[in-house]
Amino acid sequence: MTDPGNCSVKAREGMRSEEYAALERLLRDVRPKTTLEIGMATGGSSIEICKTLRDVGGETHVAIDPYQSDPDGWNNQGINNVKAAGFDGLLEPIADFDYLALPKLVEQGRRFDFVLIDGWHSFDYTLVDLFYADLLLNVDGVVACGAPRVSVPGDAQTLRSGFAAAERYRQAAAGPAGSARRADTAWACDDATGA
Ligand SMILES: C[S@@+](CC[C@H](N)C(=O)[O-])C[C@H]1O[C@@H](n2cnc3c(N)ncnc32)[C@H](O)[C@@H]1O
Repeated sequence: MTDPGNCSVKAREGMRSEEYAALERLLRDVRPKTTLEIGMATGGSSIEICKTLRDVGGETHVAIDPYQSDPDGWNNQGINNVKAAGFDGLLEPIADFDYLALPKLVEQGRRFDFVLIDGWHSFDYTLVDLFYADLLLNVDGVVACGAPRVSVPGDAQTLRSGFAAAERYRQAAAGPAGSARRADTAWACDDATGA
């Protein structure tokens, strides 16, 4: 599958162990029933999310990744790992690019309690993901975002502080000391009616 945005599957595989631990803590706090992830890879974060869904009687985990079923990409590794972990019934994989799949979810009126943004980490893709996450979150929902890799110093900070300054969001549960990445970038939506 070729991305007109000229990105490739050459992303690192999963998160660091302390990031998974922070994700687990955040999920325990949020107790989401419906979840969305952008960037599935080998399914590490999907499994973490599905564990919480199982524990709280949740319904669905939607995982978007254009390269998931591509034989030259992840070749279904993520889907197979989620199945092997026993969470097949919770997973709804979408093999498409974020910028194509996310507007369709909005059109379908889908809503989520938790959104993990961990796809293509450039500033522009992250911004698009945050834009759609905002439209797709339930009130009290939480968005967690991997730090965008940027070439212009300050852009990532602008993005973080801009989102954190939005009146309808507040900082969500903190991660462990020394692992600021997730901790810095999780926001809870207080008011879905805000502009
Ligand atoms: C850092 S990995 C995700 C790791 C995964 N969340 C985990 O913790 O196990 C980034 C993923 O983003 C996917 N990706 C790349 N471009 C994308 C796009 N435009 N839309 C959605 N996912 C994309 C890659 O295929 C890759 O699987």
